[in-house]
Amino acid sequence: MSPEPPSPQPTVLVTGGAGYIGSHAVLALKQSGYNVVILDNLVYGHRDIVENVLDVPLIVGDTTDRALLDRIFAEHEISAVMHFAAYIAVGESVTDPGKYYQNNVHGTLTLLEAMVAANVKRFVFSSTCAIYGIPQEIPITEDHPKAPISPYASSKWMVEQILQDFDTAYGLKSSIFRYFNASGAHPDGGLGEDHSPETHLLPLILFAAMGRRENIAIFGTDYDTPDGTCIRDYVHVCDLASAHVLGLQYLLDGGETDVFNLGNGNGFSVRDAIEVARQVTGRKINVVEHERRPGDSTVLLGSAEKAKKRLGWQPQYPELSDIIAHAWQWHQRRHGM
Ligand SMILES: NC(=O)c1ccc[n+]([C@@H]2O[C@H](COP(=O)([O-])OP(=O)(O)OC[C@H]3O[C@@H](n4cnc5c(N)ncnc54)[C@H](O)[C@@H]3O)[C@@H](O)[C@H]2O)c1
Repeated sequence: MSPEPPSPQPTVLVTGGAGYIGSHAVLALKQSGYNVVILDNLVYGHRDIVENVLDVPLIVGDTTDRALLDRIFAEHEISAVMHFAAYIAVGESVTDPGKYYQNNVHGTLTLLEAMVAANVKRFVFSSTCAIYGIPQEIPITEDHPKAPISPYASSKWMVEQILQDFDTAYGLKSSIFRYFNASGAHPDGGLGEDHSPETHLLPLILFAAMGRRENIAIFGTDYDTPDGTCIRDYVHVCDLASAHVLGLQYLLDGGETDVFNLGNGNGFSVRDAIEVARQVTGRKINVVEHERRPGDSTVLLGSAEKAKKRLGWQPQYPELSDIIAHAWQWHQRRHGM
């Protein structure tokens, strides 16, 4: 159930609101009664989604643009910021780390400094389970050691530490969410995942089902799991969005800076995901088996008990079949195949 926003309705600045997870959060905020302004540079975001589905003001610009940020905070009475804007491709971050530190760290720091100058002190941040690195124990809880193994993950861990320092220095309070694998699409069919290039497993499986690619590659079939393939934790994007609304409400109610895993708690192997996709789509999906990739953990599985207990988060769509069915509906509508 969505929490009640205080009256009068606060305005939330959502960076990256034209992207995958941000657009679902914008819709959830609107449906919970908040006003929303989006800041997105549209490098990866979709203007048509904002205009045709979300129908909220879109400011096209960059989080590294301090003058623009100062203007936004002067012109809109912003109560809080939800920060999704970042580059997200782990592999690219290894070959082009500067791009990731520039955008994900410097862009966030510029935004935080503009917030402090404008006396906006509530921040909801998209972090990632990738900051844990190779897990030492399963399920992963929030106090698991942090050992990021890519510049992307390091950039997120750096921001988490910056947020603790900004709380100490300026009283800027954050809800920090470490997501496991964001997946699925809005069940109404109007919002979903449209990354280019796409690097995530579930959309790539569905692209193989649609014939947009010839096959799906499985990297490693000799892991110590029941079917030999890696196990991951898939969390529905609408459940991520509802957690963000709860995290915002928590801060507006006076909550302290805190960090929450957002995962499903159920693990699904690569072969499970392909099999469920075959059942949901009724299509043939060709599989090609490859050697293991360096850096892939055998099992990544999160505990989201803290978010459930402290925020009252209740995931609505824990079943992989729902996650894949919603994504399939979206991809068919978006790509017409
Ligand atoms: N997709 C996942 O599985 C996943 C998992 C863990 C964490 N995250 C985090 O969630 C957030 C959203 O991810 P997503 O999958 O929706 O990605 P996305 O690429 O769909 O959305 C990011 C949006 O931010 C915009 N953007 C990027 N840099 C910007 C900048 N400097 N200024 C303004 N706009 C900018 C892009 O145009 C895009 O619309 C990211 O911070 C990502 O690191 C995602």
